[in-house]
Amino acid sequence: MEPDDSIQNPEEKEYSSVCVGREADIKKSERMTAVVHDREVVIFYHKGQYHAMDIRCYHSGGPLHLGEIEDFDGRPCIVCPWHKYKITLTTGEGLYQAINPKDPSAKPKWCSKGIKQRIHTVTVENGNIYVTLSKEPFKCDSDYYATGQYKVIRSSS
Ligand code: FES
Repeated sequence: MEPDDSIQNPEEKEYSSVCVGREADIKKSERMTAVVHDREVVIFYHKGQYHAMDIRCYHSGGPLHLGEIEDFDGRPCIVCPWHKYKITLTTGEGLYQAINPKDPSAKPKWCSKGIKQRIHTVTVENGNIYVTLSKEPFKCDSDYYATGQYKVIRSSS
């Protein structure tokens, strides 16, 4: 029998993919929550694509799994139900509208605050959905509510 690397190396275990449910189920519900290696995530199925991100909003920890998905500037975003922050599904960028005060005739433009919500990887195999946590080394604002004393695990499936 092959030795299990994930047991010998806990860091590798943290980044191994975890089965979170059935493809048929998420295609019906269009979203699900899961705990992946002690991190709570939400998985969306939107227009034929899967997206996974930290479940708690980077702004103040709002429950993103209860938000609506809307397009802004042609980009699908989850709108946080607490203060309506918009987060792109594919990149985790926070979007905001800005105007140039020196040009009152200008229309507000959608701008990016940069990546604020940590995005994780979704894969599908044999009808099962797997999530692999992001290994990106940068500090993401949503880490604040996904780790440490502010982490709240509310669901397990
Ligand atoms: Fe999400 Fe404030 S907690 S917008």
